[in-house]
Amino acid sequence: MRMYDIIAKKRDGGTLSDEEIQFFINGYVKGEIPDYQVSALLMAIYFKGMTDRETASLTMCMANSGETVDLSSIDGIKVDKHSTGGVGDKTTLIISPIVASLGVRVAKMSGRGLGHTGGTVDKMEAVPGMQTSIDREKFFDIVRKVGVSVIGQSGNLVPADKKLYALRDVTATIESIPLIASSIMSKKIAAGSDCILLDVKTGSGAFMKTVDDSIRLAQAMVAIGEHVGRKTIALITDMDRPLGNAIGNSLEIMEVCRTLKGQGPEDLTEICLELAANMLFLAGKGGMQECKKLARRQIDNGEAFAKLKEMVAAQGGDTSVLDDSTKFEQAKVKYDVPALSEGFLYSMNTEQCGIASVELGAGREKKEDSIDFSAGILLRKKIGDYVKRGEVIAEFYSSSLDKCKQAEKLFESAVFIHPEKPEFVPIVHGRVT
Ligand code: URA
Repeated sequence: MRMYDIIAKKRDGGTLSDEEIQFFINGYVKGEIPDYQVSALLMAIYFKGMTDRETASLTMCMANSGETVDLSSIDGIKVDKHSTGGVGDKTTLIISPIVASLGVRVAKMSGRGLGHTGGTVDKMEAVPGMQTSIDREKFFDIVRKVGVSVIGQSGNLVPADKKLYALRDVTATIESIPLIASSIMSKKIAAGSDCILLDVKTGSGAFMKTVDDSIRLAQAMVAIGEHVGRKTIALITDMDRPLGNAIGNSLEIMEVCRTLKGQGPEDLTEICLELAANMLFLAGKGGMQECKKLARRQIDNGEAFAKLKEMVAAQGGDTSVLDDSTKFEQAKVKYDVPALSEGFLYSMNTEQCGIASVELGAGREKKEDSIDFSAGILLRKKIGDYVKRGEVIAEFYSSSLDKCKQAEKLFESAVFIHPEKPEFVPIVHGRVT
């Protein structure tokens, strides 16, 4: 078999066989096929697409390119969840304790912040002492005892994706549905859970900017899940506004706690109840209405919050900050951002809001940068609110006034105030099963 022929076949619109896909993935991981040939194939896939069968085959070859996690020694149904990334997205830390408090196991590997989006692992590390790098046996033990553990990616999982993703990033081939779908699903499949819930974000703060593209991506991923025998559901959720009011690591942990105590922002609470209900549904806990009621009940009776504290304690974190947010390290500077005009908060460029929070110190501009856990944005006004000129629309937290002033420029350009009230946009746009 020759890589040249595989490239030419895809260039001409052909369908690759399982053997051809296996040949290219194996050869690339082993270093036998050079970047320039793989780049050419990726570009051919970008233009010609892949059938469902090719995408499933690519996904499985990628998933099996390195170590895989075998969760069979943990009793019960294991449900995983993946978000395609957003601004203020702290849902994993809310829904995992909700479902674990009902006996559904969550053995989750999460990521760090990427570009303008935050990452669950960074948020968790805002809790003093919290370990996110835990060996496999201890991770399994916590899942057995507590029902839930969330850690960073460990081991040599899906090396094919690491190489392909880095190459796609520099060859303008990221935005291809079969390539995104296989990249995400290979990691979920290698992570070993029985069922997978996908939260596909859509809008200005997301990878997929339109609902139609998000649905196409969701359909591709659900098809892969079904093809390989993992029950998979995708929700398409809104990322045309930051989720909740907090952006930034300790600010988001405080909001997680408020939400689990029943005092969270409406949009965040609603999306978490939907996501948790879908995880419960996947685990066979009942119909959707029943699962939604169960999720709500676990917030109201305090069991979900207690479960979060149990998980934090098991991973070495200081649970006292979860009860008393003043115990978090406080930012040096607090800065109020005023509205520049009067009217309705009409829209927010969510990616710009995320970049403003990175500017404040809440994210990394370069991989090696360290994070200021206390930095970030607390929104005082949300889309649809009426604001007077000079009224505070957001609070910034940072280590310096200079950073606040820089971030303010970005934030101001992201916020659009208008005399008319914006139309209502639902937080959940759709569900793909
Ligand atoms: N996230 C991934 O893990 N892979 C992609 O290709 C895009 C988003």
